[in-house]
Amino acid sequence: MHDEAIELARTLPKAELHVHLEGTLQPELIMRFSERNNRPVPYASVEDIRAAYQFEDLAEFIQIYLNGFKSIATAQDYIELTEDFCNHAIEDNIIHIEVFTEAQGGKSVGTPLSEIMGGVIAAAAKCRKRGVELLLIPTFLRHESEDRALEALDELGPYYDNMVAIGLASTEVGFPPENFRRLFDRARALGFKLVAHAGEEGPPEYVWGALDELGVDRIDHGIRSIEDPVLMSRLERDGIPLTMCPISNLKLNVVKNLEDYPLKQFLNAGIKATVNSDDPGYFGAYLNENFEAVIRALNLSTADVRTLVQNSLDARFDPPKVN
Ligand code: HPA
Ligand code: ZN
Repeated sequence: MHDEAIELARTLPKAELHVHLEGTLQPELIMRFSERNNRPVPYASVEDIRAAYQFEDLAEFIQIYLNGFKSIATAQDYIELTEDFCNHAIEDNIIHIEVFTEAQGGKSVGTPLSEIMGGVIAAAAKCRKRGVELLLIPTFLRHESEDRALEALDELGPYYDNMVAIGLASTEVGFPPENFRRLFDRARALGFKLVAHAGEEGPPEYVWGALDELGVDRIDHGIRSIEDPVLMSRLERDGIPLTMCPISNLKLNVVKNLEDYPLKQFLNAGIKATVNSDDPGYFGAYLNENFEAVIRALNLSTADVRTLVQNSLDARFDPPKVN
């Protein structure tokens, strides 16, 4: 009964707007990079890694995710990682990706920004030649200080022409958006688009904060906006897209089961909700698998699928001047 909608979702050209490059890291690549770079990770095998992927919440996930990306050390690793994701994107008929990369986090595990950004920029150019636009959104760690983030933004200077936006990620509760007002003001003055994870585990107030204090153009996740009807009206009125990630929310216990996933409520409210994969290397599902899961759980129609896909295309940012 869902076949037609699933087939449509699979074949339509789509944009993916919420995916962390380091979250696309598959266990096989963790082992390869870790051995090659002599950067130990606390796992003996690929099976060992998969077995460790049981997350109680976002904080537990972030710990394991940071362990994984300690294995990535060189521009060559970033090229291989990005190419691997580009291959999956092509299989999923994705034509436009806006990928988060851990500028600040990578540096904190000892990988120079030149290796990270140099590798990703080279691989993005190749991906583009294969028909997939790939734009970069460096993210900052909200569990660290704003001063650290400001330093990291300055250090990204040589790569500004290759960046389309900045984002805010990592453990949310206790680290509200307004802690990062200066970072977002500076990024806005530099001409960047602005996005922030908000309302994933954090309350609707954090979505308000991202909108009113940071002035973001899109909200990443935003699922908890459903608890605040006034916020829902605001998102609809201002046409603020939400980059929602169903299987991520399921795996991190943001929702108990996908049958209760409020995606239809967002669509019915006229909010530009989109479907995304977040961290496919950790949650076991790329974009089309996220579509398939919500189509089955929520009985989405072909019209719903067309709306979600069109939302993803409408919510894209334009490529930066230099690409
Ligand atoms: N939420 C917040 N930060 C993240 C995530 C996420 O799902 N993935 C990688 N960083
Ligand atoms: Zn995310």
